[in-house]
Amino acid sequence: MSSEEMYLRYHGLLLPKETHSLESLKFAQDFTFKDDDVVAVVYPKSGTIWMQEILPLLLNGGDLTPIQTIPNWDRVPWLEETRLEVVVDQLSSPRAMVSHFPYHLMPPSFHTSKAKVIYVMRNPKDVMVSSYFFHQMAGFLPDPGTFDEFMNTFLEGRVLLGKWTDHVKSWKHTELGDRIMYITYEEMVQDLPAALSRMSAFLDRDLSEEAIQKISEHCSFKSMKVNNMSNFSLVPKLYLDNDKSPFLRKGVVGDWKNHFSSEQLSRFTSVIHKELENESFTLPWSFD
Ligand code: A3P
Repeated sequence: MSSEEMYLRYHGLLLPKETHSLESLKFAQDFTFKDDDVVAVVYPKSGTIWMQEILPLLLNGGDLTPIQTIPNWDRVPWLEETRLEVVVDQLSSPRAMVSHFPYHLMPPSFHTSKAKVIYVMRNPKDVMVSSYFFHQMAGFLPDPGTFDEFMNTFLEGRVLLGKWTDHVKSWKHTELGDRIMYITYEEMVQDLPAALSRMSAFLDRDLSEEAIQKISEHCSFKSMKVNNMSNFSLVPKLYLDNDKSPFLRKGVVGDWKNHFSSEQLSRFTSVIHKELENESFTLPWSFD
């Protein structure tokens, strides 16, 4: 199948047809957010399924039932994907969702509600590496070609959800005030209990240290890798083939160093720098 046939184009962005439809996008636009909803917004390959593990446990105080009994895509559905309409009536409040949407595609009711957002950012070099391997295992995405070819595809934004820089810019310039919290994948890897405590305070949960420790253990890379409700082993290999490259692949910071040549590093860095040079925000990673 050509990439034209694999993607829908929505407001200029590429979205995989396997998981999105015109109906699901309309459903997202018409969706009514509630004030106590929580949405984790994540550019693809920056920790989305990690947040699908974390949010239910933070919101329910550490009861493991959701992560042991409900597949991640139904437990914390994507706002824009087809499963939301199917499971929406089964979500208990406070509801948790994820989204890959840029800010300007969020539906009108999101803006008038008090729903909270946790925006997760990851170093784009590691995002690109993760995405390269993901394209190899996802039957519904085009073949990435060589690593070098994929780097250009990624930098030009010819990938699902478009350019990484556009996504970050859109969510850094919001008028959400204290409704949005920013966190990085790297912070979560470095000290998950501390990251969970920060998220829990933002969500007005008063969790004991014991509860945070328990959640941290069950949301570790190791635990998620063997959790069939979270590792995509329930999905037919035709769509996600964990034998080609596991969805939960490495879960580390800095894997780009194993893949980038020095020429690729300077090409990548110069494009990202240029696209962010006039921005008022700074990024938490060094790009060299
Ligand atoms: P790698 O391919 O670098 O291993 P997304 O869910 O947005 O598609 O992101 C997938 C990336 O998040 C993968 O990165 C995956 O391994 C990583 N990930 C998922 N759960 C994780 C966890 N508990 N700890 C660390 N990384 C995790």
